[in-house]
Amino acid sequence: MTNWSPASWRAKPAKHIPDDYPDVDALNSVEERLTHSAPLVFAGEARALKAELARAANGQAFVLQGGDCAESFKEFSADGVRDMFRVLMQMAVVLTFAGGRPVVKLGRIAGQFAKPRSSSIETRDGLELPSYRGDNINAMAFTAEARTPNPERLMHAYNQSAATLNLLRAFATGGYAALSNVHQWTLGFVERSPSGARYRNIADKISETLAFMDACGITVESAPQVGGTSFYTSHEALLLGYEQAMTRVDSTTGDWYDTSAHLLWIGDRTRQLDGAHVEFCRGIKNPLGIKCGPSLNPDELLQLLDVLNPQNQAGRIVLINRYGAENVEKHLPTLVRRIEGDGRKVVWSCDPMHGNTKKTGNGFKTRPVSAILAEVSSFMEVLRAENAWPGGVHFEMTGSNVTECIGGAREITEADLSSRYHTHCDPRLNGEQALELAFLLAEQLKPHRDRVAAAQ
Ligand code: PEP
Ligand code: CO
Repeated sequence: MTNWSPASWRAKPAKHIPDDYPDVDALNSVEERLTHSAPLVFAGEARALKAELARAANGQAFVLQGGDCAESFKEFSADGVRDMFRVLMQMAVVLTFAGGRPVVKLGRIAGQFAKPRSSSIETRDGLELPSYRGDNINAMAFTAEARTPNPERLMHAYNQSAATLNLLRAFATGGYAALSNVHQWTLGFVERSPSGARYRNIADKISETLAFMDACGITVESAPQVGGTSFYTSHEALLLGYEQAMTRVDSTTGDWYDTSAHLLWIGDRTRQLDGAHVEFCRGIKNPLGIKCGPSLNPDELLQLLDVLNPQNQAGRIVLINRYGAENVEKHLPTLVRRIEGDGRKVVWSCDPMHGNTKKTGNGFKTRPVSAILAEVSSFMEVLRAENAWPGGVHFEMTGSNVTECIGGAREITEADLSSRYHTHCDPRLNGEQALELAFLLAEQLKPHRDRVAAAQ
């Protein structure tokens, strides 16, 4: 790796990183403390994720990536982490069954705090203040004090990430994620949801399969994989000072890993070839995501892949497409043709959230579930037409019962949004909407599975 160090990004233009910390010495001192703090994840785990992603790149697995748009200090609770984990597990079971492939479970969690903002300034009633940038930088309240970047927030974010990971590891391996448990919760959803009848068929088939496995003696005791699961974390590599401080040499391989999460992704606004974010990410060995929005041209993406994955290793790169339901047809076919045509090994993932955000008459940012679904359908259709594998989805969601996205089985309307609108950034699917989407996705994944099986 030529001329790379964890700090080499500092010589490059860096977008969306705050430069208005009033006390730079205090920032340096927090980063120094982080440099000496315990890693949150281990290099071996990041390699295990890479191996799972390699299977998704080869049509043998499906990636479910989901979680908050922005984690917050105020909303953090053990119950909240548990509820998020539970919905992700339920979605994963439904998708595993439908896709007939292992599902790679990847949370947008335990580090997803910093946000790129469209404007660095917010104006209210003539008063201008710095925008809210995420709880690890400043606070949401509209006062000069709250909006001033405070480096101690990085430490708070690190500690909350550690606590979150501790819970996730316990949930994933401590019996909570046992297959039969997860399916029992889903049966409860099928009973309660207004559109539950539609999903009864898949749910019943999963019940039958579990009963069959049980009869064959495949139990938690005989097959530990039905009693627990692997679960990985991810967030946007935005705040590079924090990421640099968390980057360590892995003693077994001598390679650099960012130990703040298993996978890091580069956002749609920070993927400039000569920019700081690409510079930082090229040197770490973690799997990487790249957000692909309408402004990305295929030649540029090929150049990015040359820099970020020069050896074209499967499992290194997830392309997270986020065009908006109406733009998928316009951009994605060309991109898939170029990338696949060039023999690049990537996971194609669909983020149907970030291209489908709109503002309602009453001032809320929302996303229609129908548009989210339409984007996933178009994505699946394009990949089918291009004979490529739809390798995953990327959702903003929460396990709790918020009202942030309109539509879904409970038909949340614009007027309902004010009742439980808690997000610190973008609108998230609530637990029921997320699970509903998993069932709908399951219906679409099945033909792909049959097509790939027929071709093998
Ligand atoms: C996000 O994932 O929260 C985000 C900001 O996405 P994008 O970079 O695709 O706009
Ligand atoms: Co978002």
